[in-house]
Amino acid sequence: MRIAVVGGGGREHALAYKIKESKLCDKLYCLPGNAGTAAIAENIDISAEDIDGIVDFCLKNKIELVAVGPENPLAEGIVDKLEEKGIKAFGPKKQAAQIEASKSFAKEFFKKYEIPTAEYEVFDNYEQAKAYIEKVGAPIVVKADGLAAGKGVTVAKTEEEAFKALEDIFIKKRFKEAGKRVVIEEFLEGEEASFLIFSDGEHILPMIAAQDHKPVFNNDEGPNTGGMGSYAPAPIVNEELKQYIIDNIMKKAIEGMKNEDSQYKGVLYAGLMIKENKPYVLEFNCRFGDPETQAILPLLESDIVEIMLATIDGTLNKHSLKWKDAYAVSVVLASGGYPLNYEKGKEITGLDEVEKLDDVIVFHAGTKLENGKVLTNGGRVLNVVGIDKEFKKAQQKAYDAIKLIHFDKMHYRTDIGNKAYKHL
Ligand code: AMP
Ligand code: GLY
Repeated sequence: MRIAVVGGGGREHALAYKIKESKLCDKLYCLPGNAGTAAIAENIDISAEDIDGIVDFCLKNKIELVAVGPENPLAEGIVDKLEEKGIKAFGPKKQAAQIEASKSFAKEFFKKYEIPTAEYEVFDNYEQAKAYIEKVGAPIVVKADGLAAGKGVTVAKTEEEAFKALEDIFIKKRFKEAGKRVVIEEFLEGEEASFLIFSDGEHILPMIAAQDHKPVFNNDEGPNTGGMGSYAPAPIVNEELKQYIIDNIMKKAIEGMKNEDSQYKGVLYAGLMIKENKPYVLEFNCRFGDPETQAILPLLESDIVEIMLATIDGTLNKHSLKWKDAYAVSVVLASGGYPLNYEKGKEITGLDEVEKLDDVIVFHAGTKLENGKVLTNGGRVLNVVGIDKEFKKAQQKAYDAIKLIHFDKMHYRTDIGNKAYKHL
């Protein structure tokens, strides 16, 4: 088959890597890809946001399957448009992608289908939202309704912080259309986990649980990022909890979406807060997680293209997922200054050395190739993944490999995976 991956981050490199392994894949393109995907696929300089450009490319190049990485094109209806042209596309249609693209839609949906989540209210103006916060007090969580590239959520420890978040949203209009409404939510204390499934609209296949690390510094200090590392399987999700999540969250969601005439096909990602061994949904995402995918997919033994096709065709019940009996720990190497201002264009060295190591994979994120050199090209630059049957060794393999890699002002967390130990 002729296959295209849409997107250019670490998640998309991991997807391309897994698709490339499939016996069904004859030719692979990445739109736009990065320096890592360039080694295994043909990069095409079309942005993931340029839906018409993507559809046009796929038609001209007889693409038979498109795997969409990021949420924006999904929320804009890329799957609907590709299907109209007879091209198979992996991911939910526009209407179903609302589960991520509108937090107020998602919260109402959780309530209707009795999916456990934090208590909340929705407001469309500053005064009423402020009055509500004055009534209930802090800590409290303020969320812009629409897609805000992971920056629309403020976990406010004080009322003042919450008011400032409201000001940003309603008065400074920082998130434009995405900030027309806010969800104000009860603060839940606990440990987070990410639980992803494949769904064909009727049946589901759960993946192994993962854990992200959002804050930029060790011990979860500093501002939130797109994710500084991940590991899988995350032992906080034990067998009992896993079954609870499947029955009370994932199956209810897929049935609920069908009931709402928004049949859900693709990957459904639940961001969970585990509080006293009970899971609450913080958010649903309509796609693979980044950086969770970089830890999950190296452990998948099944053919991902077969699974994607079965997801589209509604035949997931005829498949199962096979996983390696191992752990993967993935550490993000970021540009100095990220998630605030950072420079690009720094030369990355040591990747050749790392390539020689066993049980280590490097997924590129913000990188580009220039005159045969790999340069930094974003905030999150590389994901270094260590794999081993023993958790500690997987973690060690990732950190040993990182010692070989260098670019100016590179920084990373040195505690990725440490939360796993108390559950192992
Ligand atoms: P979201 O985009 O809704 O997942 O929120 C981003 C991050 O904010 C989450 O990963 C949590 O760390 C935090 N967060 C969101 N909602 C809550 C909540 N109700 N209680 C505590 N933390 C939250
Ligand atoms: N890991 C967070 C996300 O993919 O949204």
